[in-house]
Amino acid sequence: MRYNTDEFIKDIRSRLSDARFYHSMCVADEAMALAKRYGGDPHAAYAAGILHDVLKEQPRDEALRFFASHGVKLSPVELAAPKLWHAIAGAVYITETYAPEQALVDAVRYHTTGRVGMSLPEKILFVADFISADRDYPGVEDMRTRAKISLAYAMEEGLRFTVYELSERGAVIHPDTVACYNEIVLSQERK
Ligand SMILES: [Fe+2]
Ligand SMILES: [Fe+2]
Repeated sequence: MRYNTDEFIKDIRSRLSDARFYHSMCVADEAMALAKRYGGDPHAAYAAGILHDVLKEQPRDEALRFFASHGVKLSPVELAAPKLWHAIAGAVYITETYAPEQALVDAVRYHTTGRVGMSLPEKILFVADFISADRDYPGVEDMRTRAKISLAYAMEEGLRFTVYELSERGAVIHPDTVACYNEIVLSQERK
């Protein structure tokens, strides 16, 4: 499926701050590069990168109204983790606005939590969000090195970071994140 990425860019430009817009474009570039490296679809990866944070700056009350009007029921963990809302809402929004392939919708839906059995497009977006050119957290260079070795190797570290960071500040951890982490650790052990 060919996407009108200019239209996607216009959409996020109207919804996001300069910094978030820049981040999204960096993630799109990184996702395209990872898709080329790992045999994915560079065009679809680029499109997913552009759209992944499309609703990241939606105010909380608006997000809750959006969920209600679209029949989305959040679990107690999801309700307690507003940082996850943009991925859930974003997937619904892009489905109704652009009707992209399901793989793109799922990549956006799971880019924050991960999940068991992630597809290549999902892994690509998940990792691109960690290592995009705008990222400068301590350890990002190690993540970039890992991403050159394998997506699973980078995801393992990203998930470890996420689980650690969330538990350290007493935040809930989404069951999809725990399941994804366990799956990757088990698969690495078997190597
Ligand atoms: Fe995000
Ligand atoms: Fe992001």
